[in-house]
Amino acid sequence: KRPAGAPDKALARKVTKVGVVGAGLMASQMALLFIRRLDVPVIMTDLDQARVDKGVGYVHDEIDKLLAKGRISQDKANRLKGLITGSTSKDGFADADFVIEAVFEEMGVKKSVWAEVEQIVTPECVLATNTSSLSITEMAADLKHPERVVGFHFFNPVAVMPLLEIIRGEKTDDATLATAFATGKSLKKTCILVKNSPSFVVNRLLGRFMGEAGKIVDEGTPVEVVEKAFAGVTPMPPFMLISLVGPAIALHNSETLHGAFPERFYVSPNLAKVVEEKIPSFYGADGKLDDS
Ligand code: CAA
Repeated sequence: KRPAGAPDKALARKVTKVGVVGAGLMASQMALLFIRRLDVPVIMTDLDQARVDKGVGYVHDEIDKLLAKGRISQDKANRLKGLITGSTSKDGFADADFVIEAVFEEMGVKKSVWAEVEQIVTPECVLATNTSSLSITEMAADLKHPERVVGFHFFNPVAVMPLLEIIRGEKTDDATLATAFATGKSLKKTCILVKNSPSFVVNRLLGRFMGEAGKIVDEGTPVEVVEKAFAGVTPMPPFMLISLVGPAIALHNSETLHGAFPERFYVSPNLAKVVEEKIPSFYGADGKLDDS
């Protein structure tokens, strides 16, 4: 059955090579999923070689884990490793059919990435963004071919979370949308078409949950108490979830939502402080809550 709002799948274009802009954790998890499920070459790019190496290293390590768990054969592991490459140059995108970005969650940064990528790719290449909150229409506005920009929003951990939010910008055409749905299906994700509105659906819902958790703590309840209160109620208590997605992303999401719906969404000053101090997680390396 065709997902609600999805165009005719006959319009979908074949994806034979994928480009990933960014080599951070989200980008690396996506790169792994693309090589594993589409069986096509994936080139991952970032600003410097150290980040590229870290991203490719993550993909190799995850392939080794799949091998150790007996999920894939040695041959398959070797093949998958052969499909992933990394570079500081985006020139390898020239023959890609699908480029996805997972760079810093800031409109200006995303726009400049697409302006650069558009110089390299073919006019039909789909430009997919993993943005968790920003407008697809605005992101595409300055491009020569805004019709091939689409939101393609994964959830953390990418390998495990089944959902993919697909977002149509004002100018996104049917062929692009059909390609996004077909690709999402090949990645074995449950695809839903969501409106191009701030933080789409999932993060808007989570924004209330995490925002209230932040407010409760700002009002004086210890983080540990909030976490215990949620044990078993949701798959992850709120501060563990914030740590999983990254405090900076959680803060950005709350700011976007507060900007759009000021009366309903809360931006926690304490979360802003955690981001300013570059504290990556509320949990220590031992998996225990870090109460400092
Ligand atoms: N990365 C990769 N794989 C992971 C992982 C991670 N961080 N965490 C767990 N997994 C894998 C495990 O390896 C395991 O795989 P196998 O079955 O192959 O062994 C599988 O997930 C289940 O793991 P566990 O049994 O250890 O753990 P669990 O039962 O506690 O489930 C969980 C882990 C699925 C992550 C669960 O805690 C959960 O659903 N948490 C909520 C996650 C969530 O809400 N994500 C959305 C965040 S919002 C977002 O991402 C959007 C955004 O734009 C910011």
